[in-house]
Amino acid sequence: MMVPIILFRVFTFVALTLILHVSDGLFKYKNIKCKCYETSFCEFTTCELKILGRGIVGLNMHVQMKQPPITRIKAQVTTFRRFSGYRPFLYNVTVDFCGFMKNPKRFPFFFMVHEAIRKFSNFNHSCPYNHDISINRMVLTDEMISRIPVPSGYYKLLIRMASEGIWRGEVEAYLEVNVGYDR
Ligand SMILES: *[C@@H]1O[C@H](CO)[C@@H](O)[C@H](O)[C@H]1NC(C)=O
Ligand SMILES: *[C@@H]1O[C@H](CO)[C@@H](O)[C@H](O)[C@H]1NC(C)=O
Repeated sequence: MMVPIILFRVFTFVALTLILHVSDGLFKYKNIKCKCYETSFCEFTTCELKILGRGIVGLNMHVQMKQPPITRIKAQVTTFRRFSGYRPFLYNVTVDFCGFMKNPKRFPFFFMVHEAIRKFSNFNHSCPYNHDISINRMVLTDEMISRIPVPSGYYKLLIRMASEGIWRGEVEAYLEVNVGYDR
């Protein structure tokens, strides 16, 4: 009598885990903030989350470059996780963007972030940059975080950019990960 009950429980547990795994994967925007430190150098004219369809949110961003061309770009990506406040968590990478574009796989985490942005953006080529930078209707997919083993929670991705060795601006993306279970 005991064995079937245990088997049933195991089956239920496995089924539930599979259902959560398949259907509850969620990776979404909560908020976005953009800032240029010197408006004589750059200025954000768009920085918004837009509803594109049922449950689909896209990011639009446009930053005017007022002193092109830009020949040296440094990008720093730092991830934070919210506990009582946001604390640095897991990644903090700084890359020479122009060098990165020649050999992207050397920086796996930055590569992943850039891959996610690249398809929706003209921030997609090596230096120099002599035009404004925009991101158009960028959506998040569960696949983007499938290879990063982060637990459910609230996160912030901070991207800071420098050119010619001077920090120029930053974008903060507030994100929610809800994998439906702890991993
Ligand atoms: C990330 O790394 C940079 C450069 O190594 C450092 O200056 C910065 O303080 C670090 N940020 C955090 C939040 O640890
Ligand atoms: C970069 O993005 C722009 C605008 O979407 C596109 O016209 C261009 O072909 C892209 N370049 C590369 C190298 O992917």
